[in-house]
Amino acid sequence: MLHSAVLNVMIKAAHRAGRGLKRDLGEIENLQVSLKGPRNFVSAADRRAEETVREELAKARPDYGFLGEEGGAHEGADKSHRWIVDPLDGTTNFLHGIPHFAVSIGLERNGAIVAGLVYNPANDEMFIAERGKGAYLNDKRIRVAARKRLADAIVGCGMPHYGRGGDFALARYEIAAAQAHFAGLRRYGAAALDLAWVAAGRLDAYWERDLSPWDIAAGSLLVREAGGFVTDLDGGDAIFTKGQVAAGNDTMHHELLRLLKEAGKNAAKAAIRAASAP
Ligand code: IPD
Ligand code: CA
Ligand code: CA
Repeated sequence: MLHSAVLNVMIKAAHRAGRGLKRDLGEIENLQVSLKGPRNFVSAADRRAEETVREELAKARPDYGFLGEEGGAHEGADKSHRWIVDPLDGTTNFLHGIPHFAVSIGLERNGAIVAGLVYNPANDEMFIAERGKGAYLNDKRIRVAARKRLADAIVGCGMPHYGRGGDFALARYEIAAAQAHFAGLRRYGAAALDLAWVAAGRLDAYWERDLSPWDIAAGSLLVREAGGFVTDLDGGDAIFTKGQVAAGNDTMHHELLRLLKEAGKNAAKAAIRAASAP
């Protein structure tokens, strides 16, 4: 398949960083048994991957701005273009030797994401999309799943954990609502891949709170280009400022928002009851 010049640049950067991460994953498998564990090693791998991506992208587009999870924001001479990069999404998986993590690269033009790539080096799955040109997995066109019944749906989510903040009580209500309506709920641990998997029709829907732009920039375009919907949890387009996403085909997306809203109301009522209890 012929790719545009900009996608070629992104693919090259992801492949180079991915090769490094895959090598590092092998090393992590050895470090699991050491008492110190691989944590420091993983932080270094993460930083190295971002440097690699940044270096590759800058070679081809030296004027573009850059926002990376590790190195933060760098303004470019070209104010209308910015890369949004998570060099290693799914760090906890990576740290445990679980081969479900990704390099995520989004390209923003005048505030809109126009190209996105999510690459899992462990199984060599490369998800790409450009605005108006569809979404692809290893150069094969992908589309969101067509399922309409919640009872048939497998849905991905994120949830707060120790040391990461978030509203534990609300999450419990949301998860309970999902359990009561969906065929299956999954927590895979890499937001960029969750979105890519919605785009590929593997997951029927996905939602998460407390995310950062680099988690969702590329993946949100993948879903839209695969014919799906991505909004914040109020159904609006403030996914980056609110750090939330709900994604799926039109029916799933709509139903998911409805369920989450209901769960939110129940959580709030429970909180009021608890506060007024003697
Ligand atoms: C995390 C993953 C995870 C999500 C977290 C993210 P990281 O990114 O995407 O699935 O639940 O909110 O921060 O830290 O592995 O790059
Ligand atoms: Ca991330
Ligand atoms: Ca990361």
